[in-house]
Amino acid sequence: MAGTATQKAGTTEPTRRDFIVVAAGAFGAVGAAAALWPFIDQMNPSEDVLALSSTEVDLSQIEVGQSLTVLWRGKPVFVRHRTKAEIEAAEKDDNADLKDPQRDEDRVQKPEWLVLVGVCTHLGCVPLGEQGEYHGWFCPCHGSVYDTSGRIRKGPAPKNLAVPQYTFLTDTRIRIG
Ligand code: FES
Repeated sequence: MAGTATQKAGTTEPTRRDFIVVAAGAFGAVGAAAALWPFIDQMNPSEDVLALSSTEVDLSQIEVGQSLTVLWRGKPVFVRHRTKAEIEAAEKDDNADLKDPQRDEDRVQKPEWLVLVGVCTHLGCVPLGEQGEYHGWFCPCHGSVYDTSGRIRKGPAPKNLAVPQYTFLTDTRIRIG
């Protein structure tokens, strides 16, 4: 019996090579886009350092209809200079059947500037801008669709894209955090 047990242990113990293969397989199954974010996230600084960090953004370089993505506390933040049509579309749908109901005016400080944490609320992929049925953001990982206010409209994501805390320092400069 003891001999059998020893033999079993010997044959089932994973070698270093097995581990590398298993790890590579798991990584591949999740997909590069989905796996990359948690990996980067683990390298974030500790909570007390995070609490202090902020990012300033110069808005003067962002034309109407353009977006800028900045890194804040290890996460992408989308700063979008919305067009009139995007603002109107967002406001028009304030009373639509929303999964995470929120008025557009409660998600912005100035209608032309939309600031969002660019992390899908489903499993954390980074959505693509100016895509999807509502011409807001589309997450290709599992098909979540966000509108021009960053509200979730279709797909598995449960929540709107988060609005980070930010302050207008001047008309053309904000501080995120
Ligand atoms: Fe975006 Fe799943 S992570 S839809």
